[in-house]
Amino acid sequence: MYIPSYKEEPFEWYKSMRTQRIVREGNSVHVFKYNDVVTVLSNHNVFSSQFRDLLGDDIKNELDSRAAPSILILDPPRHTELRGLVSSAFTPRKIESYDNYIRELAAKMIENIIEKGRCDLVSEISYPLPIMVISNMLGVPEKDLKKFKEWSDALATSLGRGPDLRTQREMSEYFLNMIDRNSNEDNLISRLSNVSIDDKKLTDQEITGFSILLLVAGNETTTNLITNALIELSNHPDIYKELVDNNKIAGDIVEETLRFRSPVQSTRRYAKYDYQINGFNIYKNDFIFLYLGSANRDEEIFKDPDNFNPFRENKRHIAFGNGIHFCLGAPLARLESRIVLEEFAKRIESFSIERLNPDDRIDSDIMYGYKRAIINVKK
Ligand code: HEM
Repeated sequence: MYIPSYKEEPFEWYKSMRTQRIVREGNSVHVFKYNDVVTVLSNHNVFSSQFRDLLGDDIKNELDSRAAPSILILDPPRHTELRGLVSSAFTPRKIESYDNYIRELAAKMIENIIEKGRCDLVSEISYPLPIMVISNMLGVPEKDLKKFKEWSDALATSLGRGPDLRTQREMSEYFLNMIDRNSNEDNLISRLSNVSIDDKKLTDQEITGFSILLLVAGNETTTNLITNALIELSNHPDIYKELVDNNKIAGDIVEETLRFRSPVQSTRRYAKYDYQINGFNIYKNDFIFLYLGSANRDEEIFKDPDNFNPFRENKRHIAFGNGIHFCLGAPLARLESRIVLEEFAKRIESFSIERLNPDDRIDSDIMYGYKRAIINVKK
């Protein structure tokens, strides 16, 4: 089966694949329709995220000695226990308390962009904002942020192509050193170091695994959401003008960007048992590729799906997944992106983004976005 490279737009390909619904190639099964993707994601008893079970013992031991598997790649019951422990840090109310801090950061970065007039949107705001926010939440000092950029780039590229052992090792060592069981500081790593389930504390490897997940799951994704939203607004000056007049539509623009240019285009599961998805046979140990970016353009679910329309009624996209692994950071990603758009529209009357080319795209089979986008602003 032809699969477009990361340098190509996948949306026309998805459209033709949706006419076939589900395609098998050996033991790989590719799922393109919204309802089928939701069926798989919501059925975690059959469709497992626990891919480590399939790895050879050597690689498994090497990985496990440093960072335990994160919730993203665990099934219940361990998934339920660990997610329960960390979810209290990510409730919408808790996240809202970061509003002022994020707003001040965003305002400063946007002032900088205005000062420069022409610059790279990604390195001025889309990249640094989410990483500064998550580092602040985790308790990581600002001086280490540069290292994080290298790690997060390397991991975004390796996602879906097998583990990048060197980067995993460096990150694990970094976080292992940060664990302080006696700290009473109010940050996520301290909280994770001291929290317990049934009187058992998280192991160092579990804390490390979770910290790495937050860094990986939370950065590149939100970076791409911010960039993709501003690119779409530069393609639709009329909608940007509406935003300048009424910043209450910022949330709608964020939701439509999530649907229209989903930062995570696909995810995976493997089948633990034989099963049928809507009449299509799935066999034990099949790999299931779920195209969220295609589901979000499914013409049977979304009217006029190839049209960027923040005012559409149906906002039930699955850009954050579905079921028990639904993105824990969704409230944070939404808040950060909404604030950027609001603060942008407050200060910038109009802007344009220079023509993007395939080499500007991030090198990933899973993430959709750009590593640079040159913006020109008018105050
Ligand atoms: C899970 C997307 C931002 C933390 C997921 C999943 C998706 C996703 C699709 C589910 C994957 C699956 O089921 O296989 C996104 C997008 C984001 C974003 C599009 C930004 C636009 C964030 C942020 C954080 C975060 C900011 C945290 C700081 C997580 C975690 C999980 C997850 C911890 C695993 C949840 C679980 O397994 O129970 N995300 N994410 N994400 N995300 Fe996000």
